[in-house]
Amino acid sequence: MALLEVSDLKVYYGVIQALKGISFKVEKGEIVALIGANGAGKTTTLHTIAGLLKAGSGSIIYKDKDISKIPGHEIVSMGMAQVPEGRRVFADMTVAQNLALGAFTRTDKKEIADTLAQIYDRFPRLSERQNQLAGTLSGGEQQMLAMGRALMSHPDIILMDEPSMGLSPLLVNEIFDIIESVHKDGTTVLLVEQNAKKALSIADRAYVLETGSISMEGKASDLLHNEAVRKAYLGE
Ligand SMILES: Nc1ncnc2c1ncn2[C@@H]1O[C@H](COP(=O)(O)OP(=O)(O)OP(=O)(O)O)[C@@H](O)[C@H]1O
Ligand SMILES: [Mg+2]
Repeated sequence: MALLEVSDLKVYYGVIQALKGISFKVEKGEIVALIGANGAGKTTTLHTIAGLLKAGSGSIIYKDKDISKIPGHEIVSMGMAQVPEGRRVFADMTVAQNLALGAFTRTDKKEIADTLAQIYDRFPRLSERQNQLAGTLSGGEQQMLAMGRALMSHPDIILMDEPSMGLSPLLVNEIFDIIESVHKDGTTVLLVEQNAKKALSIADRAYVLETGSISMEGKASDLLHNEAVRKAYLGE
């Protein structure tokens, strides 16, 4: 049984159908990439899995349970965390306060402190800026904070929505290195990206989302060399 399995998922915004019955799965320990153009339905997919949007129909099985009708905060306590598109940190709160919020589902103070120490270890720039207001961080630092906040819940799976958006090439590399190291430490990753090249280069498998439907799927390394993918998503 996959850790996460989405079947025939349909999602509507009023009369507009954003997802037209998509199916995909993420096995424990994988990095799975979901790539696609603007408006394809990537964010809609992640929001529906995370319980922020209602599924019109279909099922979302996570840890053997259909979570399609479970509210978002309960899904977080089941070990699923989200790094939202556009970072969305709490601008008027400090780095440390933002991170503390990420642990809202946990109670063991010692374990929370251990996780916090690991995060400061992984993101030295956050460690140096613990008392800085999040709104004054650079774009790359805000992305790190959004990731750190998600990791504070000690998730089994992390859903990331375009972590490389708007970052310089150097920072993009840094963010992808961090994703790989989070994965190495045992976290399963569902990665949404427009930077298809980078996403496919670190993922095990990938799905291509095109106007609400999955048009291609396969091993990431195969898709990276696929002619149609190269033309449409790698600008080659
Ligand atoms: N709140 C909303 N109300 C109505 N339509 C919406 C809403 N949010 C998204 N949509 C529409 O649903 C479709 C999918 O949007 P979504 O944000 O999931 O795309 P995306 O693949 O994440 O795009 P991007 O790469 O630009 O972030 C788009 O046509 C979008 O206009
Ligand atoms: Mg999006």
